[in-house]
Amino acid sequence: MTDHLWMHFTRMSAYQDAEVPTIVRGDGPYIWDAQGRRYLDGLAGLFVVQVGHGRVELAEAASKQAAELAFFPVWSYAHPTAVELADRLAELAPGDLNKVFFTTGGGEAVESAWKLAKQYFKLTGRPTKHKVISRAIAYHGTPHGALSLTGLPELKAPYEPLVPSAFRVPNTNFYRAPEHGDDLEAFGRWAADRIAEAIEFEGPETVAAVFLEPVQNAGGCFPPPPGYFERVREICDEHDVLLVSDEVICAFGRLGGYFGSGVYGYQPDIITCAKGLTSGYAPAGAMIASDRLFEPFARGTAMFAHGYTWGGHPVSSAVALANLEIFEREKLNEHVANNSPAFRATLEKLLDLPIVGDVRGDGFFFGIELVKDKATRETFDEAESERLLRGFLSKALFEAGLYCRADDRGDPVIQLSPPLICEQPHFDEMEQILRRVLTEAWTRI
Ligand SMILES: Cc1ncc(COP(=O)(O)O)c(C=O)c1O
Repeated sequence: MTDHLWMHFTRMSAYQDAEVPTIVRGDGPYIWDAQGRRYLDGLAGLFVVQVGHGRVELAEAASKQAAELAFFPVWSYAHPTAVELADRLAELAPGDLNKVFFTTGGGEAVESAWKLAKQYFKLTGRPTKHKVISRAIAYHGTPHGALSLTGLPELKAPYEPLVPSAFRVPNTNFYRAPEHGDDLEAFGRWAADRIAEAIEFEGPETVAAVFLEPVQNAGGCFPPPPGYFERVREICDEHDVLLVSDEVICAFGRLGGYFGSGVYGYQPDIITCAKGLTSGYAPAGAMIASDRLFEPFARGTAMFAHGYTWGGHPVSSAVALANLEIFEREKLNEHVANNSPAFRATLEKLLDLPIVGDVRGDGFFFGIELVKDKATRETFDEAESERLLRGFLSKALFEAGLYCRADDRGDPVIQLSPPLICEQPHFDEMEQILRRVLTEAWTRI
């Protein structure tokens, strides 16, 4: 029992009389708890530890930077590591996304993007463009703005009233497509057109931006259907609405490229990123904006009146640079792209279990949807979800040696997003543990 640590997104009562799992060490794709038990880290911490645990060179990069210059803000001053990291990210980001605004995490990056969108339109003579659109069940973070963009009503309810002017459209859950369930491309067009409809309904002169993840995480990995982002880009151009690619999970190798938008070949106006930027060896996030969005801030007295003390932290920036060096040296993006089909095929073996309805995702990022009836795709009711997911699965998977996530923010799914260094033996280990535990789960329904 921890008396003082208030854990995030945690029912604290669950630990009144139970031990909190305490992780003390990591090495490669494995972590160890305080009792010395080993687990495969099937979630890279929290979609973070791309290069794996225990990388001494990242610890050394942090130590060297802290000894030289531990802290200086990027408020009207600069320091070399922030400058170099901004250069590097501008080089890696698609097209003219050349201006890097550092944050300390993903929610702050999303928050920054919405604020930039609003101010950009005010500075360029379209002051009524302020509304934002995002997708059902999508998670965009916890600050008030980012939470307003989040499409999970139960996460928002305790904090209402939130920021007005955020509207939801359908996501790209093809497994539960309300229309065109037999034609992926037609479904993608339909889903993209819902964005056009929302913009037209609200009035294009009031809409500033659309926030979309390359692959939507919450709900269990919804990849974009072919043509989806192409159509979204067209819609945004037609209505002068900014396309924000929220890549807090989908950047830095998760989908086999530095940025998910690059992997899928679409050009956003803003990218928000965090997590894998440092592989978690220090906290960092960024909003990367296009030259066009920066342009009004390059003149006269204009200023983006926004910032964070820790944004562009020297230690985090040094760690990020060293992390990106590992990506290059070990060709991690190529490794993910080359091994993703084998990872998928290994997980798809689970489709012979009656409880596994769907396996979906891309790169090293997959969701396994659990169902009560495979033929009808019937899902679990609230009591069953409570018993199965919260009461049994997460704990049983962990006890069997796999740290991953059983999530029911949409329909119940198990999410897998391991370090990018994983190989076939790790895919097999995940499959075998999942097979054992899901077989047991089925007997408990
Ligand atoms: C798509 C997306 N956006 C934003 C966030 C919020 O990031 P953070 O927890 O770093 O604030 C997350 C976190 O998981 C995310 O997945």
